[in-house]
Amino acid sequence: VPALTNIGVLAACRRDGGQDAIHLICDAALAWEGGRITWVGHQSELPHQYGGADIIDARGRLVVPGLIDCHTHLAFGGWRAGEFVERLRGRSYLDIAKSGGGIAATVRATRAASNAELLARCDAWLREVVRLGVTTVEAKSGYGLSEEEELRLLSVYAEVSQGSAVRVVPTFLGAHTVPAEFADRRDDYVDLLCGPLMTAVAARRLARFCDVFVEESAFTIDEARRVLAAARACGLGAKVHADQLSDGGGAALAAEMDAASADHLDCVSRDGIARLAGSTTVAVSLPVATLYLGRPPMPARALIDAGVPLAVATDFNPGTAPTVHLPFAMLLACTLQRMTPAEALKGATIYAAMAIGEADACGSLELGKRADFAIIDAPDVDHWLYHFTANRSVATYIAGAPIVTAQNFSR
Ligand code: NIG
Ligand code: FE
Repeated sequence: VPALTNIGVLAACRRDGGQDAIHLICDAALAWEGGRITWVGHQSELPHQYGGADIIDARGRLVVPGLIDCHTHLAFGGWRAGEFVERLRGRSYLDIAKSGGGIAATVRATRAASNAELLARCDAWLREVVRLGVTTVEAKSGYGLSEEEELRLLSVYAEVSQGSAVRVVPTFLGAHTVPAEFADRRDDYVDLLCGPLMTAVAARRLARFCDVFVEESAFTIDEARRVLAAARACGLGAKVHADQLSDGGGAALAAEMDAASADHLDCVSRDGIARLAGSTTVAVSLPVATLYLGRPPMPARALIDAGVPLAVATDFNPGTAPTVHLPFAMLLACTLQRMTPAEALKGATIYAAMAIGEADACGSLELGKRADFAIIDAPDVDHWLYHFTANRSVATYIAGAPIVTAQNFSR
């Protein structure tokens, strides 16, 4: 029976306790069978059936649950480095969006990309993130914005997920922005989203969640409410891109609709925080987008003090967060949002799992959960994020199988 021993520190990251409760065990061991965790605790108490040839030596390193990136826009064509530079020169994100850049530019590039191209790009990024210790990724559509193109992007996720050990949880984001073709008849686009498109996504089981971008340049609260109600009627969970660039009441809507998550929240109001605190909705912070847009950080401390579970994700997309590096997002959660490394880790594990409805399957190192974990070449969680390097993960296991093992693993 396989077991990992000689773990310097293991962070179990169970759901109980607050944001900084990561349930550390020193001198730990972890064992699994059939892809599921069967034992976790102090190595001195490891039962004798675990032993022999299947022992893996962690050499005193840190072991954490496989990281979960609960907010990405994985499938898109092209890039937008030109806009990055325009913004550095002082132009605003909304101004670029109004003149046909932004999401609309990526929609054009995505529609022009072949299935094979999109698939190859998604696959390459999943290979990159698993090396960083990531084992589950949420992936949104939203750069197709027509019936055919949205279904095509979600089908790419279904296909890439089949060929990858990384778990992919797909989200339908047809409500990313109103596409150019519907510019003067936005109600017709909302009708399409709520009607035939939602029905097709649900019937073909192409998504678990439906997300809406509530913003001046995207959808109003009333439109978002309609879309999320239609999603619920089709059995899809709700997510909201809320209060990113302005306080548009997105957090309150997420709470009202029992959304799994309210994401961004850089401009969330006191009332929005109170509404989230009285709900089951997880707040998702996306500090890479905050950094690239040069905006003030989300009020993480106020959310945590109010008792809202706070997840941390990359928001990987070509406009506001062009990196797949989740540990980098965790570092920014510390430096920009004043979270401790322990709080950031809880945000990228069990709270991230809650944000995508996967908390029963993964996100913590507990009996019965999938044996998804990363071995980190650091003495503890604080040191890992403090002494930041390109990649401190030396091995990533999914369902008990070694998916990547770095060359320096056995040193
Ligand atoms: O999460 N906010 C909406 N969507 C993305 C940006 C998408 C884009 O600019 O392409 C985000 O930041
Ligand atoms: Fe996003």
